[in-house]
Amino acid sequence: MAMIAYKCPDIVVVVLDINEGRIAAWNSDKLPIYEPGLDEVVKACRGRNLFFSTDVKKHVAEADIVFVSVNTPTKTRGVGAGKAADLTYWEGAARMIASVSTSSKIIVEKSTVPVKTAEAIEKVLRRNCADPGVDFQILSNPEFLAEGTAIADLTNPDRVLIGGKDNPAGHAAIEQLAAVYAHWVPQERILRTNLWSAELSKLTANAMLAQRISSMNSISALCEATGADVQEVGRSIGTDSRIGSKFLNASVGFGGSCFQKDILNLVYICETVGLKEVAEYWHSVITMNDYQKHRFVERVISSMFNTISKKRIAIYGFAFKKDTGDTRETPAIDVCRGLMADGAHCVIYDPQVGADQVHQDLATPKFEWDHPARAGSAVIGRDEISIVSDPYEAAHGAHGICLLTEWDMFATLDYQKIFENMVKPAFIFDGRNTLNHAALREIGFIVYALGKPLDPFLQCAYN
Ligand SMILES: NC(=O)c1ccc[n+]([C@@H]2O[C@H](COP(=O)([O-])OP(=O)(O)OC[C@H]3O[C@@H](n4cnc5c(N)ncnc54)[C@H](O)[C@@H]3O)[C@@H](O)[C@H]2O)c1
Repeated sequence: MAMIAYKCPDIVVVVLDINEGRIAAWNSDKLPIYEPGLDEVVKACRGRNLFFSTDVKKHVAEADIVFVSVNTPTKTRGVGAGKAADLTYWEGAARMIASVSTSSKIIVEKSTVPVKTAEAIEKVLRRNCADPGVDFQILSNPEFLAEGTAIADLTNPDRVLIGGKDNPAGHAAIEQLAAVYAHWVPQERILRTNLWSAELSKLTANAMLAQRISSMNSISALCEATGADVQEVGRSIGTDSRIGSKFLNASVGFGGSCFQKDILNLVYICETVGLKEVAEYWHSVITMNDYQKHRFVERVISSMFNTISKKRIAIYGFAFKKDTGDTRETPAIDVCRGLMADGAHCVIYDPQVGADQVHQDLATPKFEWDHPARAGSAVIGRDEISIVSDPYEAAHGAHGICLLTEWDMFATLDYQKIFENMVKPAFIFDGRNTLNHAALREIGFIVYALGKPLDPFLQCAYN
């Protein structure tokens, strides 16, 4: 929304949230999320045509277009628990919009939702609005930005997708929203389609992206077993224009708020319409992701003589990827839990993730983090983990380092100094393949790099 305000000075944008703390942060000098370039965009238009408010009803009543970007988490209880999308927040927002509307509006689905959500939302809106003269046009306008590169993605999007009803009123609504994006997006990149195709496109895009990661991760296991190098494989296949070079890196696993949630949602939809084989196919993407995290933990344990009990292990990076402070579904959660379960003491350093967030993430059961009322109430693990503000301190006295997030700074640390202060043999487990492994071996480290030929030391340890 900030980008719309930034690019369209003639449009007034009011960002609304029921969470007062978040709105206060958006109105302060310390924005509630870390995203490169975001501060500049917000500061350029905040107070001009961009406002942040908790007065949801007043501003919705006044609006011509309402974008709904509320969270759509995975259900944790009831029918479809662990798979289906929980639309509680979406429905709550729709009821509120209906109750305050005295003028016709375009309602834009920006949240990622199951196919045919627009139809359900339309029913809620129509049945709950007292004024029969008010018309609601529902559009689906899924967001394809990636965290960490959000500003660049929004400034120069591959495409903007707008789905609407295939009738004159639907077409008119699509064109009204397209006119907003046309302030900075070339017309040929503004794709118009029907509602269901737009909704399904977003789920499919995330499922395909995650599938590429899981595919490369599956090959990384095979590379280790055969002495091949997953980066070489990725480079070779990436030159094929049908495959393309992006998203071919093996890693300790994908994370983020969307991939797993959206695939589970897709799986649930397939199951409900009786497509068992299709559901199983997509679910295997998640199975492979869980396997990769598990495999990484097993590799750490087996390399360190099958015991990590009471061993200090430095964790470099906790965010789900670099250039974001977002930890939702980060692989670091499962890896740290796995190491802690075997008795290790994890000492965590991340340049953007604070101690409270780490404690909350390690204490919160799967999927509960996205339910604001329930997340983070329990705090566990304080004895098994420390969170420090310096990577050298994290590794001081450690038996091993697990690199879990590919922050650029990790590649330029003084590993000679780090090595000297570690217990020997000193291990590095590179879960992102971003370090200079030859240089580390030269210093004396035992190096495990995902999907790369194993050090002789590790081959012995593993067999
Ligand atoms: N984060 C991403 O990069 C990304 C990218 C593409 C799509 N999406 C989708 O966008 C949606 C939101 O994602 P997010 O990461 O911003 O989630 P989030 O949980 O960070 O933010 C959702 C916000 O909605 C607020 N909210 C809930 N109910 C409300 C109501 N009735 N009125 C006003 N505010 C309400 C919550 O307080 C919360 O602050 C999800 O469906 C997600 O899948 C996210």
